[in-house]
Amino acid sequence: MKKPRVFVSRRIPEASLRPLMQECDVEIWEDELPPPYEKLLEKVEGKDGIISLLTDRIDAHLMDVAGPQLKVISQYAVGVDNIDLKAATDRCIVVGHTPGVLTESTADLAFGLLMAAARRIVEGAEYVKAGKWRTWHPLLLLGNDVHGATLGIVGMGRIGQAVARRAAGFGMKVLYYNRTPKRVEIPNVDARQVDLETLLRESDFVSIHTPLTEETRHMIGRRELAMMKPTAVLVNTARGAVVDTDALYEALKDGRIGYAALDVTDPEPLPSDHPLLTLPNVVVVPHIGSASTTARTRMGDLAVANLLAVLNGKRPPHVANPDVLERPECRRA
Ligand code: DGY
Repeated sequence: MKKPRVFVSRRIPEASLRPLMQECDVEIWEDELPPPYEKLLEKVEGKDGIISLLTDRIDAHLMDVAGPQLKVISQYAVGVDNIDLKAATDRCIVVGHTPGVLTESTADLAFGLLMAAARRIVEGAEYVKAGKWRTWHPLLLLGNDVHGATLGIVGMGRIGQAVARRAAGFGMKVLYYNRTPKRVEIPNVDARQVDLETLLRESDFVSIHTPLTEETRHMIGRRELAMMKPTAVLVNTARGAVVDTDALYEALKDGRIGYAALDVTDPEPLPSDHPLLTLPNVVVVPHIGSASTTARTRMGDLAVANLLAVLNGKRPPHVANPDVLERPECRRA
């Protein structure tokens, strides 16, 4: 029997690929950089499944070029803002993604960035490497305490809640805002649901954990940044475009907020000559929230499990467009 044909848009951990190799005819994009859109179109043509990355634009045109046999797009990430979900559902294409397996790792990084900004750890390391460390000084690199401070979490999903648990260990007070209000009870965490304005006005640290959608694009703009404390730290490990980068640059430059610690940026990657990188009160890391060996392997395992389930006519563990499973016209024989 002919094996299903699958395109994988970058090399993912080897162990995750093994079951895929056994069951499918697999083509992998081996470059370090993502396939340009035109190449991607060429590569997906005639494929039954695609394992995609957040750097791939997966739109209606691409799905049409792939052809009517395309059954599944399995994203190697939890966020699917690069994929046109409606176009996939309209074409009976299941979109898989990888929630859960990267929650704790991403929360670790968010909290690490928060600490780094509060205590100016990156600045300190650069200071030492630059040979500037001549003595202990009472006023050298003073930062802000994390313990006892107020943390505002924007987006109280899995990762937001995992960050709240970490904050409790530091005796922080937690405020949270969710676009769709939801009550969250986390054992031993003192967390209060508030509106966005209260969160921005009262928090010493604001950490973003909302997915990027048309509603959340630039959710943190000039107006919202102006509500924050002049000492506040903004942490973003979600998607860069949730924050208006120009507004953020101005707020940081003019001292209207204290610091930004970013794992994600808009644009991404951030060019090395971007004005944001000239500021002393910014730390940027290259979208490494889920970059632990364990998390990335589990993401690979789940992306492959989602893909193989669909190709074998089964319900996949995690679907980003669950409506597709309910559409009678999408049920396959
Ligand atoms: C995701 O999964 O959406 C992250 O941004 C990368 O792990």
